Amino acid sequence: MQRAYRILCVDDEDFNLELLETLLTPHGYEVVSAMNGKAALEQLGRKNIDLVLADVNMPVMNGHELCAAIRSDGDLKHIPVIMITSLDNRENKLKSISAGADEFLAKPIDPSELLLRVKNMLSSRAYEDAFTYLIHSLARAAEANDIDTGNHILRVGEFSALIARELGMPEKYIENIRLQATLHDVGKVHVPSHILKKSGRLDDEEMAEMKKHPAFGALIIGDHPHLESGKKIALSHHEKWDGTGYPKGLKGEEIPLEARIVAIADCYDALRNSRVYKPCYDHDEAVKIITEGDDRLKPEHFDPKVLEVFKKVAPQLEALYESMKDPKACEPA
Ligand SMILES: [Fe+2]
Repeated sequence: MQRAYRILCVDDEDFNLELLETLLTPHGYEVVSAMNGKAALEQLGRKNIDLVLADVNMPVMNGHELCAAIRSDGDLKHIPVIMITSLDNRENKLKSISAGADEFLAKPIDPSELLLRVKNMLSSRAYEDAFTYLIHSLARAAEANDIDTGNHILRVGEFSALIARELGMPEKYIENIRLQATLHDVGKVHVPSHILKKSGRLDDEEMAEMKKHPAFGALIIGDHPHLESGKKIALSHHEKWDGTGYPKGLKGEEIPLEARIVAIADCYDALRNSRVYKPCYDHDEAVKIITEGDDRLKPEHFDPKVLEVFKKVAPQLEALYESMKDPKACEPA
């Protein structure tokens, strides 16, 4: 059975906290409370909180500061926040939006409205979680026959998100690429496993089979509008800036930006890990190969702007790689 949803109520007035608890508890919610933003952050660090209901005016740390702190914390930022504001306070509303609040509740609280907002917020969050879970399942299914297993797909998502952020892309774009980059190789389910697992270079015929995986990936992902970036990434992550990639030989900005970002993220991770056809490299060596080239990679393969950002965030990529590497990851010689 699923555990009860846990709601953190934040208000400096005992009376308001008691009111919220009285309204929420009979509906099966578990209520945790805090008297200001700072105390709320301590609770968030300790307990699995599903939703935050926060007053705006509080001593020590107010509701806006609390909301901004939640949004900038990697572990907490997905938690929905409902701000409780005085009716018609436009300035407070704008501040709440820019701090990242998801919803508002006007004071004095209307019990029916409170329960509906909480219920809707939790159920839309549950659908989002299920969507993310299924995307990852699909990506994992595609790894069944492949040598790229373990955390490879998740790392490519995180590297891509980091690069997209440094490029100044909006939050929604960053979240999309983090999730949907994991589908880049989903088309490999159609590539025979003896080709995927072959040690040594592929012959022409095998290479031709391998080169079909982007188109198969796009076909599997299909046309759902929520998966548009995933489809672009799957189809174009082997295109190269200088036009020497596949499947279409697109050049420069003809290649969708998402795919230009994932191309470099995928490449960095592939270099850090051993493959049947190549050894693994340490961070400096991997960066050197991407920025200076080797017998198969050329810096001209990458969007110069994305390559610049890659160089800039390379230390962060290394830290991410270290925190997400597979337990049996190979150690460079
Ligand atoms: Fe691929």
